[in-house]
Amino acid sequence: MGDPETLSGGNGLKRQLVESLFRQKKPVFHVWFQFLLLMCLALVVLCYTLFTSSLPWESFSLSEHYGRLLNQTNQAHLLPAYRVHPKHKVKLSETTKSPTVPPTGTQYHQAYAPNYHFIMDNTEVCKNKTPFLVLLVPVAPNNVAARDAIRQTWAKNSLVQGEIVLTLFMLGLSGGADVEQVQEKLKLENLQHHDLIQSNFMDTYLNLTIKTMVIMDWLATHCPTAAYAMKVDSDMFLNIDNLVIMLKKPGIPKLNYLTGMLMWNRPVLRSKNSKWYVPKELFPDPTYPTYTLGMGYIFSSDLPGKFVNVSKSITPFNIEDAYIGMCMKKLGLAPKSPPDPSQFKAYNSRYDRCEYSKIITYILGSSEELVKYWTDLKKPGPPC
Ligand SMILES: *[C@@H]1O[C@H](CO)[C@@H](O)[C@H](O)[C@H]1NC(C)=O
Ligand SMILES: *[C@@H]1O[C@H](CO)[C@@H](O)[C@H](O)[C@H]1NC(C)=O
Ligand SMILES: *[C@@H]1O[C@H](CO)[C@@H](O)[C@H](O)[C@H]1NC(C)=O
Repeated sequence: MGDPETLSGGNGLKRQLVESLFRQKKPVFHVWFQFLLLMCLALVVLCYTLFTSSLPWESFSLSEHYGRLLNQTNQAHLLPAYRVHPKHKVKLSETTKSPTVPPTGTQYHQAYAPNYHFIMDNTEVCKNKTPFLVLLVPVAPNNVAARDAIRQTWAKNSLVQGEIVLTLFMLGLSGGADVEQVQEKLKLENLQHHDLIQSNFMDTYLNLTIKTMVIMDWLATHCPTAAYAMKVDSDMFLNIDNLVIMLKKPGIPKLNYLTGMLMWNRPVLRSKNSKWYVPKELFPDPTYPTYTLGMGYIFSSDLPGKFVNVSKSITPFNIEDAYIGMCMKKLGLAPKSPPDPSQFKAYNSRYDRCEYSKIITYILGSSEELVKYWTDLKKPGPPC
């Protein structure tokens, strides 16, 4: 759908021109012209309705943007008030030009995590301590920069507000020809930091649901004593102190608790050009159940085992956060609003020290931003 202003402007101009031509002739022409115009209008309306009913609504770029509100990479450029990082633009054009369509013949058990095995599992990390909160960050195997930035910032202190907080990174296998080299580097990185969890699935965008379910499997089998866990994307600003303060508030459930930025009645995108296209065979309903946006969601530690268990009977589809919403629904549970929903923010327009001291999440454009904003936030002096 083009820019409505230029369209109507163009039409108006044309009409003026035509009208002035006809006005000089007989008035009969004027009547004829009006009739013609009416017919044209009727035709346009007819075509429009036909077009919209035969194609899914989301094939219009505008609604695509509202389709998966605020999902990384595609939303930023849409909201002019928000600053767009070049990274996001690049990603978007890459994905819109050559959309990767999920295979419809996906195996039923593809997202059943026990089908995979851990290559690195840091099995000891939860054995000698009982963390209050475990942060699991899905990250691409070669994205050392993101991991290092997180290690310097929100993962730096293992004691937050007097509670033990652990941060671990979840990776699959890199698909490149240099897989063995990558593995060697990862082993060394893990020897140094002891914070990598790796499983033997192919680490690709369409496999994010597997990645999330492997996170759930690791939590259930390797760290069941933690009170809470969080799946948090690697491009996030996380105000970890505020998160721990939130989780220690009286009245926060200890069981069956999932919270974050809630998404209600989000339509399933059926346009094959969409990055979030899901075929009807994988997910027949037109809307997703209520779920928490994938950028960062928090859950009580009883849930991971239940998710893994119930995933046996839920056809996998490639939208990991909505898939967790499905698991919740199947378990007869629903995500809960956080005590202060305004603390869960997606895109930021600019850095504001006072604001960053109050929020819990924000999506960032780069690892450099994370280090820069974190350093600024932690400098002495009141932020507001
Ligand atoms: C997802 O991972 C599985 C298991 O490693 C692999 O067989 C499959 O090709 C991957 N799918 C995509 C789309 O990358
Ligand atoms: C966007 O969607 C993907 C796939 O579901 C998810 O992993 C990611 O966390 C989402 N991004 C945000 C910002 O929620
Ligand atoms: C998984 O499901 C089985 C039955 O299907 C049940 O007995 C078991 O308790 C479940 N485990 C969890 C962690 O919910």
